[in-house]
Amino acid sequence: MTIREALLDASHRLELQRVPHPRRCAEVLFSHFLNVDKTYLYSHDDEPLPPAICEKIENAIGERISGVPVQYIVGHQEFYGRDFLVNPSVLIPRPETEHIIEAVLETGHSPNTRIIDVGTGSGCIGTTLALELPHSSVFAADISEAALQTAKQNAQRLGACVAFVCMDVLDAVSDHFDFVVSNPPYVPRRDAGSLQREVRDHEPHVALFDPGDDLAIYRRLIQSAINLLKPGGRLIMEIGFAMEESVLSLIDGSWNALPTRRDLQGIPRAVVAQKPL
Ligand SMILES: C[S@@+](CC[C@H](N)C(=O)[O-])C[C@H]1O[C@@H](n2cnc3c(N)ncnc32)[C@H](O)[C@@H]1O
Repeated sequence: MTIREALLDASHRLELQRVPHPRRCAEVLFSHFLNVDKTYLYSHDDEPLPPAICEKIENAIGERISGVPVQYIVGHQEFYGRDFLVNPSVLIPRPETEHIIEAVLETGHSPNTRIIDVGTGSGCIGTTLALELPHSSVFAADISEAALQTAKQNAQRLGACVAFVCMDVLDAVSDHFDFVVSNPPYVPRRDAGSLQREVRDHEPHVALFDPGDDLAIYRRLIQSAINLLKPGGRLIMEIGFAMEESVLSLIDGSWNALPTRRDLQGIPRAVVAQKPL
């Protein structure tokens, strides 16, 4: 069987099983197991598919049909133009989280800007900021030791200088920062049923679900950050669907609320608050 025939067959079977974006999924799996990019895949698609690769792809298709996200099968996800290793102990980085990066980069910086990323997961936010702002000091925290292992691996692979710490929100720090950034676990448990099965059944629950009552993690971030930010420092937090109003209501008079960052469709993505000068 040629690569073209196998690719068509795989896309068709994924489509029949209602896997989202079946063609793209098949391309990612074929590129990964053949260790080639998409251009090579199509420019050599009349070549035979080696049987050993065919078997690996068959297993991967089975996993994908059973709901495993393609990123966990291939072990990678791109974020802000860089490749991050992912596995079931970390959330798969999402494109909307890049708004946090942009919100930091658009703000003026001194050469020794100090940043802490709370709930770093794969390390995508902290590592990206350390690489984009090479003269900054970046710290990254997570409550999950397993996530921190992956985050450290990513920082090392990408050559980023990040200090990692295992802690509950900001409980173990007393230093001062210019930025506290976070994409916290914000899905209320009662909404678990509305998540895609790929997310609910495969991504770590500690990364998805708000651990307390609604907005508990935002309350803790806001309360701790006011003491840890330098005057003029910013707290930037990703928010979920329809959460802007309720998260903004937690930002009291000790803060200056800045405009929420929105995506191109106008969807609010990150709340920004500044500690007064
Ligand atoms: C939504 S994920 C974000 C991961 C990564 N920053 C990203 O944007 O892809 C939330 C992360 O917060 C971590 N986390 C959950 N509760 C925490 C807590 N109380 N303190 C610190 N980190 C926590 C989880 O382990 C998870 O890695």
